[in-house]
Amino acid sequence: MFRHSLTRRDAFLILLGAFSMHLWTLFFREPPSEKSILIDARVNNPAAEHRQAAITTRTILTKTVTETAIPIPTPDAALDKAARERDNREFPHTSIIAHAPGWTLFKNLYMSNGTLYILTSSPDTFPEFRLMTSTGLPAENTAENMAAREPTKENMDFITPNDALERWGGDPDRGETNRVWTVEGNTLLFNDPPQFLHHYYHLVAELFFGVQAFWHGAFFPPETTTSEVIAQQLGFSNHHPIPPHIDRAIFAHSNAEGWRDVPGFNSYFIRAAYPSMTVEHQQDWNDRTIATNDGTRVWRFPVVLFTDRSASHRGRVCGSLTQRTASEAWEGMKKLGKLRGRHIGGWWEPVRNAVWEFAGMSAQERRLDEIQLPTHDIFIPGVGGGKDEILDGMGSEAQKFLPMPETVVITYISRQSSSRRKLIPEDHDVLVKELEALVKRKNEEEKVGEMKKKWELHVLQAEKMTKDEQVRAAAKTTFMLGVHGNGLTSLVWMKPSQVSTVIELFYPGGFAHDYQWTTRSLGMVHYAVWNDTYRTHPDKPDVAYPEGFQGNEIPVYGPIVAKLIEDRVGGVL
Ligand SMILES: *[C@@H]1O[C@H](CO)[C@@H](O)[C@H](O)[C@H]1NC(C)=O
Ligand SMILES: *[C@@H]1O[C@H](CO)[C@@H](O)[C@H](O)[C@H]1NC(C)=O
Repeated sequence: MFRHSLTRRDAFLILLGAFSMHLWTLFFREPPSEKSILIDARVNNPAAEHRQAAITTRTILTKTVTETAIPIPTPDAALDKAARERDNREFPHTSIIAHAPGWTLFKNLYMSNGTLYILTSSPDTFPEFRLMTSTGLPAENTAENMAAREPTKENMDFITPNDALERWGGDPDRGETNRVWTVEGNTLLFNDPPQFLHHYYHLVAELFFGVQAFWHGAFFPPETTTSEVIAQQLGFSNHHPIPPHIDRAIFAHSNAEGWRDVPGFNSYFIRAAYPSMTVEHQQDWNDRTIATNDGTRVWRFPVVLFTDRSASHRGRVCGSLTQRTASEAWEGMKKLGKLRGRHIGGWWEPVRNAVWEFAGMSAQERRLDEIQLPTHDIFIPGVGGGKDEILDGMGSEAQKFLPMPETVVITYISRQSSSRRKLIPEDHDVLVKELEALVKRKNEEEKVGEMKKKWELHVLQAEKMTKDEQVRAAAKTTFMLGVHGNGLTSLVWMKPSQVSTVIELFYPGGFAHDYQWTTRSLGMVHYAVWNDTYRTHPDKPDVAYPEGFQGNEIPVYGPIVAKLIEDRVGGVL
């Protein structure tokens, strides 16, 4: 019998074999199996399961670190694997790991001659194409342009397993292998033109915000509804398993300049947050298109997050409530119960922390205080009945469980030296004076022991700072203040605290969701200031761009801003 004839040497070899299989999976970062995604579906004790999921991950992490000294698989093994796949007469079917309008995480998406193919025998189970893709043309607000962005079968199509074999199977009679070439690893595929890519806000706080919400959420087991306590704790969690690595980003309709903004923040961000992610462009996509243009050859993407801005705008949340593509990804994951840390931007924490570290912040500076939640169920009400049914329960209700900052830091990002959207110069001066007076008064109160907090004011001109400095300044900010504009994008590097707030100055009557939605999606509070009044959720203004919105005569009444900040810290607001 096998057991009796097993020598020590055999046993060692078997172990070695098992071990190299393990290494193999580590090395090739196989996409997580369906099993791991559905892990929670069959357990009765979700609390234990969540603990176990966390422990498992930690174990995996330790292994990754400790096993790196072992030799990696030889190139021959990799060739073997490729050859086996190339002999296949049955191609992996397409499936969807997660979908929201404009955000679709596929397994086994195919591309031939520029068309994306869903290989399936049950097309009915897939979302409408128009909720996944478009022609990728720049968006304008006209009926003609909207029609021109509706996808055709050249953009995306179904293919049956038989047709796929017919088309891409090669000719086995003459010993030809199949014609399917695998693009190994995990891919982000962006279907948008440069129109909105070459802006810091749109690339970081919209596109990659959505990527992170989706990628981070999709690979986790869902939170459970059976235990509110656990669900609430996960809502405040900053500690998460690491999702699969992203190997490449493909900007299919943009060249190398198309996704870079003039100040250079987009490239800083991408290299900081994803240091080993390769970036491909339209030219590279064309290479793949041309190489498959006789239709007999095809590329297979084993795991790909496909995004499309126009498709997001066809969704209800983005299309009619927020105009933010990321909000579809955010709400979609929340609905699935998979947006961990949603009350405090915990889902964004891995990216934020990577950028903080890149910017030179020490471990001490990056440290987040533990959040003390009561052990009984805590009820964080949705707002219900407000204009804004989205982001339910976000903001001040959840914020009260967070620690107070040790130092209250007010950061005013001035646009006074830019070419448009500026404050009336005297109003800017008064605003700065009022803030200086507030900070001075608070620090005097601190000296006589009435208040225990230090206060700081920083009036910044972002264009005069390095990117590292901008990130570090944002990270220690409690109140970020400025006229509507790209400078406020830095709010995504703020550290959550009990009173973290973004105060956005608009021309009276004007409003846009850009920074309002972004602030709230990270669990912070947003105020829109119109000269001597302010509005916040759920009483936020409607979107409006009145005459004067872009101008250089924006009024602001400094004392009201100072009072708003004082009241927030004092717990009055
Ligand atoms: C490849 O795409 C081009 C452009 O869309 C089209 O004209 C051509 O017919 C396609 N080739 C095949 C084999 O389908
Ligand atoms: C702004 O508010 C101040 C204080 O109420 C007021 O004196 C001023 O006229 C207002 N400015 C504008 C342009 O409404």
